[in-house]
Amino acid sequence: MHKQWSDVNALYQIYPRSFQDSNADGVGDLRGAIARLPYLKGEPDSLGVDAIWFSPFFTSPMADFGYDVSDYCNIHPLFGTLEDFKELLDKAHERDIKVMIDFVPNHSSNEHPWFLESKSSKDNLKRDYYVWADPKPDGSPPNNWLSIFGGSAWEWNEQTGQYYLHTFLKEQPDLNWDNPAVRQEMQAVVRFWLDLGVDGLRADAVRWISKDVHRRDDPRNPAFNAGPQADEFGSLLHVHSRFGPNLFKYLRDLTDIVAAYDDRIMIFEDYPDDIFTTRDQYLGFYGVNPKVSMPFNFEGIGIPFGAENYRRFITEFQGMLNPSEHTPVYCFGNHDQQRLASRVGEEQARVVALMQMGLPGLPVVYYGDEIGMKNGLIKPSEIQDPVELRKPGLGQGRDPERTPMQWDDSVFAGFSTARPWLPIAHGAEKRNVAHESKDNDSYLTLYQDLLQLRTDYTIFQKGDYETFGEADANVYVFSRRLGEEHIFVVLNMSGKRRKFTLPHGGRLLAATHPSRIVAIAKDGKVKLRPYEAAIFECAKHPLREVL
Ligand code: NOJ
Repeated sequence: MHKQWSDVNALYQIYPRSFQDSNADGVGDLRGAIARLPYLKGEPDSLGVDAIWFSPFFTSPMADFGYDVSDYCNIHPLFGTLEDFKELLDKAHERDIKVMIDFVPNHSSNEHPWFLESKSSKDNLKRDYYVWADPKPDGSPPNNWLSIFGGSAWEWNEQTGQYYLHTFLKEQPDLNWDNPAVRQEMQAVVRFWLDLGVDGLRADAVRWISKDVHRRDDPRNPAFNAGPQADEFGSLLHVHSRFGPNLFKYLRDLTDIVAAYDDRIMIFEDYPDDIFTTRDQYLGFYGVNPKVSMPFNFEGIGIPFGAENYRRFITEFQGMLNPSEHTPVYCFGNHDQQRLASRVGEEQARVVALMQMGLPGLPVVYYGDEIGMKNGLIKPSEIQDPVELRKPGLGQGRDPERTPMQWDDSVFAGFSTARPWLPIAHGAEKRNVAHESKDNDSYLTLYQDLLQLRTDYTIFQKGDYETFGEADANVYVFSRRLGEEHIFVVLNMSGKRRKFTLPHGGRLLAATHPSRIVAIAKDGKVKLRPYEAAIFECAKHPLREVL
């Protein structure tokens, strides 16, 4: 019996370049990932995760490390072949691991055959596959829209005398989703991968697929403070260049395809932002097709660590959802964000892990976070990310969180026998899978314990969420309830010792330091150390194990 998505304990994100190299070229690949499947699930010392998501491994000139796709239905030779992928899929499925791929609908590579045709002449049949516009009379770009990666979002094409739109790099021209032929092409891509047997797709940068059809200027942001460190992108309110009128309709068409297959899902990439209320955004995305699609919740990435901050955003978010319809997807790290342990601190990262795994829905773990990996230190000569290369020194580059997975204490951390494409982060001699597997108190042991709980008890995926007790600036407590079952997640988010009283006493299920027994006194009182968190079963409402 294979698990359904609704029972999956967590989704593990693999950045394929950095997970495991099998052919000594310093870049991770699919055969490397196949070799590491036993780490993920099915062996006594596995991490024990039920699903994996791969960032892009498609054919690409790699201007944005694969988020610039030149063939949506093939694999870049650096990563292997379609046959390798099929083998990966089969072997993952044998272990009952679901496999999700990345899908990049907003833009292709500028080397995609569609774009090569499109830019060749104004009357080419593929001209309208992309967004082209005439210059203003003075020759400047058609409007003031900005690229996220810097400068105008419009690039001049001399040959045809028009500009094309690129929300990201100029090597990533935006596809014109208002053209039905483009929508059909992209729907065919989704079908191709679903037919091959993938269990889901993570859809990149979806908020941009629909834009203002009149291409009006984005208004200036009155709150913008220009300064040497300011990111020009913040100078505008991006109300016309994204979240266009057809966004949810286009997504609905895509997800209708997903819904036609058995137990497949699509997760939308979307960050909270100041312009559209969080509520509108979430409910908009959930409203698309709630049975099969849902947005990530990335709020925890931007919010400073702290009991009040987390309580507020999680409780507000849970309050918006209809628990019988909407699956929360809490995410505290990914390939675009500084490493969790570097952002919040090493002890604090354990608290976040326990909190995340105590919450409903489908949590997402970024590779390496389960061993507490920290940001890599990248020397100027080692920079790879185009964002850092374009805007050096702003600290926006994404190389630090993309360093190779740390498997052991060998020179290249067991990732490769050759020098890797990015350096191994400092501290890998101890912070690695081999070392942490032997340490009963490690991050890895903590994640294994938490994932095991989510495997054994469906209350974690499906139970109701409620905050518990007085709101406290140091301790965030929530309870989960499923029928007669009841658990408490108690998180001391301060650097001080704190107490909490369980209403009916209970049993310890997990703690941030797995080897420590957090004692429960007769009166239900528990004492938590600084940055200590634990999950307790209520003595009066015990759990029933999943059979
Ligand atoms: C979001 C992806 O996560 C990021 O890595 C990429 O650069 C942009 N979208 C463009 O595809």
